[in-house]
Amino acid sequence: MFINIKDLCFGYNRSKNDIIHHFDLEIKQGEIVSILGESGSGKTTILRLLSGLEIPSHGNISINETLMVSDHTFVPPEKRGIGMVFQDYALFPHMTAGENIEFGLKGLRRKERKARVEEVLELVNMSEFKKRYPHEMSGGQQQRIALARALAPKPSLLLLDEPFSNLDAELQVKIRDELRDIIKQTGITSIFVTHDVADSRALADRIVTMHNGIVSDQKTVQLTR
Ligand SMILES: Nc1ncnc2c1ncn2[C@@H]1O[C@H](COP(=O)(O)OP(=O)(O)O)[C@@H](O)[C@H]1O
Ligand SMILES: [Mg+2]
Repeated sequence: MFINIKDLCFGYNRSKNDIIHHFDLEIKQGEIVSILGESGSGKTTILRLLSGLEIPSHGNISINETLMVSDHTFVPPEKRGIGMVFQDYALFPHMTAGENIEFGLKGLRRKERKARVEEVLELVNMSEFKKRYPHEMSGGQQQRIALARALAPKPSLLLLDEPFSNLDAELQVKIRDELRDIIKQTGITSIFVTHDVADSRALADRIVTMHNGIVSDQKTVQLTR
């Protein structure tokens, strides 16, 4: 399995009450899995544990056969090869779309960086917006730039945390179909969390339901397309 999450337990502030209880999940390479659960069920926490922003009290996570965290291992966030898109896009307001995307490409030479920025802008159909600042773009356009920024360093795993919740309903429907096409085009393994069944159905290959920090009765829905 490309992603292997095994027996993960976690509580905030070393509290006695765990929020994540023996969470297990396996994901194949190239699969888009949606974690569906109501607000407060622990979805964002799972993404934070995956990306290394939180450390589990128990359990382990491996990506592509490499152990990221266990009782004896901790790979820091910047070494995990994970791209993230958040609910609020989190673009830097004082940087243009192009500069926002380029920001994450530190390891490359200037010429390669510029080429990669053009490439991902084209992927999300936003080439003509390179010089725009976030406040000069619509919510949907900002969201596409946030996606381009996450994809630019060629991560092996893409995490999306309720990426549509700030968009109006009509745009939401348009963007999620678009997003699925873009993700499938790159072939990148993705985990997409949401509280919205329709979003899950539109975007995911497989839906995993989460309830109070556990995958509820391990039931998954395999979508046929
Ligand atoms: N930084 C934090 N400190 C303490 N408790 C938190 C923190 N972040 C989230 N929680 C709690 O953890 C639980 C799961 O939160 P979260 O993972 O954000 O859920 P979801 O993303 O599914 O809405 C909630 O009960 C929330 O109140
Ligand atoms: Mg959340």
